[in-house]
Amino acid sequence: MSQRKLFVTTALPYANGKFHIGHIMEYIQADIWVRHQRMQGSMVHFVGADDAHGAPIMIAAEKAGVTPQAFVAGIAAGRKEYLDGFHIRFDNWHSTDSPENTVLAQQIYRDLKANGLIASKTIEQFFDPEKQMFLPDRFIKGECPNCHAQDQYGDNCEVCSKVYSPTDLINPYSTLSGAKPVLKTSEHFFFKLSDPRCMEFLKQWTASGTVQPEVLNKISEWLVPGEDGTTALGDWDISRDAPYFGIEIPDVPGKYFYVWLDAPVGYLASLKNYFDKGGAKAAGENRSFEEFIADPATEQYHFIGKDIITFHTLFWPAMLYFSGRKTPNAIFVHGFLTVNNGEKMSKSRGTGLDPLKYLSLGMNPEWLRYYIAAKLNGRNEDIDFNPEDFVARVNSDLVGKYVNIASRAVKFLPGGKLVAGDISSLQPGKLVERVQSLYESRDYGKALREVMAFADEVNLRFDAAAPWKLVKEGKGDEAAKACSECIEAFKVLTACLKPVLPELAAQAEAFLQCRPLDWSHAATPLGAGHQVGEYKHLMQRVDAKVVDSLFEAPEPVVEKVVPGGEEIAPAITIDDFAKIDLRIAKIVECKAVEGSTKLLQLTLDAGEGRMRNVFSGIASAYKPEELVGKLTVLVANLAPRKMKFGVSEGMVLAASHGDEKANPGIYVLNPWPGATPGMRVR
Ligand code: MSP
Ligand code: ZN
Repeated sequence: MSQRKLFVTTALPYANGKFHIGHIMEYIQADIWVRHQRMQGSMVHFVGADDAHGAPIMIAAEKAGVTPQAFVAGIAAGRKEYLDGFHIRFDNWHSTDSPENTVLAQQIYRDLKANGLIASKTIEQFFDPEKQMFLPDRFIKGECPNCHAQDQYGDNCEVCSKVYSPTDLINPYSTLSGAKPVLKTSEHFFFKLSDPRCMEFLKQWTASGTVQPEVLNKISEWLVPGEDGTTALGDWDISRDAPYFGIEIPDVPGKYFYVWLDAPVGYLASLKNYFDKGGAKAAGENRSFEEFIADPATEQYHFIGKDIITFHTLFWPAMLYFSGRKTPNAIFVHGFLTVNNGEKMSKSRGTGLDPLKYLSLGMNPEWLRYYIAAKLNGRNEDIDFNPEDFVARVNSDLVGKYVNIASRAVKFLPGGKLVAGDISSLQPGKLVERVQSLYESRDYGKALREVMAFADEVNLRFDAAAPWKLVKEGKGDEAAKACSECIEAFKVLTACLKPVLPELAAQAEAFLQCRPLDWSHAATPLGAGHQVGEYKHLMQRVDAKVVDSLFEAPEPVVEKVVPGGEEIAPAITIDDFAKIDLRIAKIVECKAVEGSTKLLQLTLDAGEGRMRNVFSGIASAYKPEELVGKLTVLVANLAPRKMKFGVSEGMVLAASHGDEKANPGIYVLNPWPGATPGMRVR
């Protein structure tokens, strides 16, 4: 059989906040599956990205006083800590606000248009008369026209999952101002999902094993033909008016793609970025992105949560298919993770589970991976994180059953050398085969139950053999045989747990002195004469007290106050200060610096009868045109500095937080009206 080539993604998280435990759950689910595939010998490219566009992010950035680009960059910088912390190994992490995504999204749009599936219509849309902007769906709430649930968003109902347009809402209001929105006309662009071709395709595609039965059931209501032969799915509005943070629609200035149009394209953009950087090549793939993605043998899978089913099982495959591209092989939908029996996650009440707090308490990330895996099946049911259950499962299964086998057996194995044994009655080959197929169908809970049942049997055999007694009775050989069998069984178990517990498996492999385990030799005995290494304790038990502190509400901050994230510098005298010559300067010209994303080049007039050239690291916060003509403060007697891009003759003053990663934002100083270039600041 030729090697399977897989392209796997998780949903792209909105770049308006840090990861929460629900995201981590999704990544753990996908990461386990990817590791399983690799143990099978498949080549996998596993990518993610930030979903950067859309009105909510634009508005959040505006509130924070930074550009949307700077805002999402701040969020992106925080991703690695979580992913590394929980051993989630994406091959690439990119952004939908990227050149790759712009090109791909615009090309897909052009292809859909050429295929006659784009229409434009002048529509009436809600406009916030106070904020003076068209209201994004997410900023309009009201009563669901279908099930009459209150306070539902303008794009779809979270109670009944109905997709509709905001004007269908009953008693709408703007969540930005509280104002009652007014209707205003604007030209919009639509993906003609009502075209009979679309329904025909979607009916066939969704029924071809690409979605779970319960998912098919859920979406089938949109695939019933209406009286006119079109689908119940209406045309999909894919355009938004400026101001919008997104990708411009080709040939229609001032119109942008709705974020959900370019978001899934971000899967392809991240993969392309990975290929172009040489990542795929390093993994053994020599073809280009274009060749890889067009190959019918390439398998494409998306892991998502149940709240975004329609986008992934209807809109996305239709976008791909009708733009002449390959469609996904399957969409894997999971349920939601709740904490403490579905209590709403709330920080103040301390009921949420903050992934970073988990790590900072020194809790083992593999405990969480195991617990989540043990609860997951291949269906989209919700799962609950229950603290007592977590402690019990991890301690009893991982420490009490699995680790226990090695720690007990190694004691009666003189010199760590295995002797001939026979565990065929335990049928290790059958276990491996079962577990492998359960991982494949994402029924991790069942896989782990089978693994633990096997571990139980091994422990029973150990107890029955009672090697400690055998040794006392002078039957050391028999004891060594029983223990060798336990080690052989431990090796099988290690392989079976490896997708879930990669670090623990690596330590166990070091102890077993075996080559990296994969499915092909998981059940092959190490054999008589095999030398195992020194046994070091493999895993600590979970301390219930630590778990309690995980759920304690955060203490109010009583630490020393550090203004602006940075301590006040040591005292200086007035003479020290007088050494710094600060002058009012006018920004006469300002431009971007080619080859630098950080710097802007300023031409400053400080009343000297000549201009100064200054490079300033403020490009993340200002566009050149925002600064031209403004006054600011210049450090006029700073020694000139030669930089890569030229000589910088001074420095402009700007404020920023001490921890710029956590609190992005740069604010250039600007004097009160009346100041003129050349005045000294003292
Ligand atoms: N940006 C969109 C996805 C675009 S994909 C082209 C989005 N982002 S999200 O941040 O809201 O959600 C990202 C993923 O996390 C989704 O698959 C969502 O279902 C999942 N989860 C969000 N909360 C969750 C839980 N409480 N439990 C499990 N998964 C959850 O939607
Ligand atoms: Zn509803």
